[in-house]
Parts: sequence; structure tokens; C-alpha cells
Amino acid sequence: MKNINHQTSETISEVEKYICLCNNKLTNGVGVRKLKVTDYKNYISLLSQLTEVGNITKEIFTDRLREMEQNRYLYLYVMYNKRTDELIASGTVYIEPKFIHGCSKVGHIEDIVVNNNYRGKKYGQSIIKMLVKIAHIVGCYKVTLACKKRNVDFYEKCQFKQEGYEMVARL
Ligand SMILES: CC(C)(COP(=O)(O)OP(=O)(O)OC[C@H]1O[C@@H](n2cnc3c(N)ncnc32)[C@H](O)[C@@H]1OP(=O)(O)O)[C@@H](O)C(=O)NCCC(=O)NCCS
Repeated sequence: MKNINHQTSETISEVEKYICLCNNKLTNGVGVRKLKVTDYKNYISLLSQLTEVGNITKEIFTDRLREMEQNRYLYLYVMYNKRTDELIASGTVYIEPKFIHGCSKVGHIEDIVVNNNYRGKKYGQSIIKMLVKIAHIVGCYKVTLACKKRNVDFYEKCQFKQEGYEMVARL
């Protein structure tokens, strides 16, 4: 069994090394990095292609980003155009520490979106692959996500399988 402890500085730097590797492998002037405060407008615009975002001021955005940066269980990455800094895709994997399976962990993938102008170029598949790999590096035994029926084929192409049912209580 791998890494049953909290996210250690060792596993965090393993993730950073992996992201560096991805950056070296990506072509066509595309990079991958963490979200920055200066992404504010572009990120809201990208997320609005996924769902309703609401009215978020730069101040609220900055506070939320700082809060997320402090959360060592949260990995949010964006793919971007290195020349223009335009955002191409984004996704998050949240690492849930468990007691079961020998104090293992589960990764939860959330908020996957690819910019309309860049769809159909395998960026969706790339960001999923990176998030799954991060979950593996930090010691997850599985990765889950919920999606609309229309995206099932996409996730199957990313090696996910349908298992069970998703239940939601709207609050
Ligand atoms: C779903 C989404 C992330 C796919 O991103 P993408 O970069 O266009 O997808 P990719 O180019 O990586 O596609 C990989 C494969 O999946 C297929 N695919 C992509 N989207 C698909 C869909 N909605 N239905 C069926 N197949 C799909 C592609 O044709 C490709 O197949 P191939 O390998 O046989 O050529 C993107 O369309 C998107 O952001 N949609 C709006 C937001 C959204 O619904 N997000 C998911 C929330 S759960």
C-alpha cells in the first residue's frame, strides 16, 4: 500500500515533477499550470461553458483561490496557450482521505471543461489523464466522477467505467 499518511511534501513534489514532465511533453505551444489570480476573467468565461457561474467579483475569486491553494487535498490545473495565456482546459481532482481499504484515498474529478475553440483536439482526454495520474501519485486506489449522459462516451474513452448510480441532495 502506498502513502497512507497525509499529503506529504514528498508526494506534493512528486506531483510537481509530474506536471513538469507533462509541460515538456505538451506540443503546439500548450502548457499546464496552476490557476492564477490574473486568470480571473478567462477562468470565469471558461467555467461558464460548463455551467452557471454566477456573479463573482475579482475579490471573491481571489479569496476563493487563496483558500483553495491552502487545501493540500485539492489539485486544480489549467491548460493554456503559452503565447497568449488563453485558457484551453481546466479540471480538478479532490483527494479524499479514507479509513477503509487500509486508510486509502479516493480521487474525485470535478469541473472538467475545454474551451469551445479547442474542443475535439484531445485536450479533454489530456487533462483527465493528468488528474488521474496525480491521484495515483498521491496514493488513491480509485478515481470517481459524475457526468451527464451525453458525456459518458467521452469518459469511457478516458478509461472510466459506469458503476452504480449517482445520488444528489440539492441544498
Ligand atoms: C466533454 C469535453 C470535456 C470533451 O473535451 P474535448 O477536448 O473536446 O474531448 P477530446 O478531444 O479529448 O475527446 C476524446 C475522445 O472523446 C470523444 N468525445 C469528446 N466529447 C464527447 C462527447 N460529448 N460524447 C462522445 N464522445 C466525445 C472524442 O470524439 C474523442 O474520441 P476519439 O478518441 O475516438 O477521437 C468538452 O466537450 C467540454 O468541455 N464540454 C462542456 C463541459 C462539460 O460537459 N464538461 C464535462 C462535465 S462532466
